[in-house]
Amino acid sequence: MLRAPEARDRAAFIELLASPEVGTYLGGPRPRDELEREMPGAPERRAGLFTVDLDGAAIGQVILSRATGHGPPAAAGKAELGYLFLPGAWGFGYAAEACAAALGWFVRELPGEPVVLFTQTANASSMRLAAKLGFTEVERYEAYGAEQWFGIWSTAHAT
Ligand SMILES: CC(C)(COP(=O)(O)OP(=O)(O)OC[C@H]1O[C@@H](n2cnc3c(N)ncnc32)[C@H](O)[C@@H]1OP(=O)(O)O)[C@@H](O)C(=O)NCCC(=O)NCCS
Repeated sequence: MLRAPEARDRAAFIELLASPEVGTYLGGPRPRDELEREMPGAPERRAGLFTVDLDGAAIGQVILSRATGHGPPAAAGKAELGYLFLPGAWGFGYAAEACAAALGWFVRELPGEPVVLFTQTANASSMRLAAKLGFTEVERYEAYGAEQWFGIWSTAHAT
């Protein structure tokens, strides 16, 4: 289930950002004590920010936000999809199901707007997920010392 983030998700959010597996292609994990100190008790809530809930527990996050300057110029200002799941929830198809549902929500809210996605090409499960969701390659580029993939999705894929 996709739902708004809640205070009870805090431990899962800390785990996501402190996990070495989750951080492998995202610049590495963040120190747990720093996260414990800095993460607010009540998480940010806004349209496009989803907690993925499995039987009452948070297993991941799906985020749709406006791309800032971290991708190629062509992507700036477009809606960007991001996803993070706890390693124990990998390999069951939950990420694909949750991201497809978030894209379905997006297309109802903002019909006709494309969605962009960036991921390291070395991040094989993320590359597979992007392809499964219907993202197509725009370009590859170098950033943060690694090859990055810039993909785009549009409503043409949403039916
Ligand atoms: C990227 C990430 C979300 C992918 O998670 P995932 O669980 O591998 O992705 P999916 O939901 O697509 O599940 C895929 C696997 O589940 C398995 N699966 C089992 N039952 C399934 C079902 N009913 N439907 C679909 N897949 C199923 C398959 O083995 C499938 O693998 P395949 O794509 O090789 O066939 C996860 O690795 C992650 O959180 N990584 C860390 C964060 C990260 O790097 N994010 C990218 C930022 S750009």
